Amino acid sequence: MSDETKDHWENVYRHKQANEVSWTQDVPQPSLHFIHSLNIPASAAIIDIGAGDSKLVDFLLDEGFQNITLLDVSEQALEKVRKRLGDKAERVKFVVADITEFTPVEKYDVWHDRATFHFLTTVEQVQQYVSIARQWVKEYLIVGTFSEKGPKKCSGLDIKQYSEKELENVFSAGFSKIRCIEQEHLTPFNTLQHFVFCGFRKSGL
Ligand SMILES: C[S@@+](CC[C@H](N)C(=O)[O-])C[C@H]1O[C@@H](n2cnc3c(N)ncnc32)[C@H](O)[C@@H]1O
Repeated sequence: MSDETKDHWENVYRHKQANEVSWTQDVPQPSLHFIHSLNIPASAAIIDIGAGDSKLVDFLLDEGFQNITLLDVSEQALEKVRKRLGDKAERVKFVVADITEFTPVEKYDVWHDRATFHFLTTVEQVQQYVSIARQWVKEYLIVGTFSEKGPKKCSGLDIKQYSEKELENVFSAGFSKIRCIEQEHLTPFNTLQHFVFCGFRKSGL
């Protein structure tokens, strides 16, 4: 990722409030739906890739999950979460990194990504992401991207849209699809964005 792109995200979180960006959700319903369906223990290691200042972590902490990591290229985003969580932030691991250059120190039972993977627009970036996920995901991968009916850009940046089949194909070396759902996200500006969310299981388990 270029310095320019990192600066873009730092500026977004420095200058914009949650109700001023399209991706904000009061309740991250599709993500919680997928995570609940896995029936994982509270000790499961969960990482949220490109977590931003999503409230997913708040819900997971309230449900008793004890091993949550938030990764984002924007330090500002993670600072917002840290402040919001207050004392609860001590129970969360924060990683400022570009996902395509991430070197984990532990494996994750669940790897969750809503609206970050689709910012990887080159074959090389996608290959790096898939290769890191293959190596460091123990069991489950949940990825939500704009669908072919969704926007072509987000936050002024180009994204890559995915169909269910394309998402399945891109992760096929290493993961088997459990199921996919389509979702209409209602933005804070009362517009709709079409997403596809897929859950995968590591192959060969
Ligand atoms: C559209 S926002 C989604 C945030 C959050 N997942 C949510 O659902 O509210 C995309 C997030 O991905 C982060 N991001 C973009 N490219 C990234 C990369 N290469 N590595 C890590 N984070 C990245 C941005 O900083 C931003 O927080």
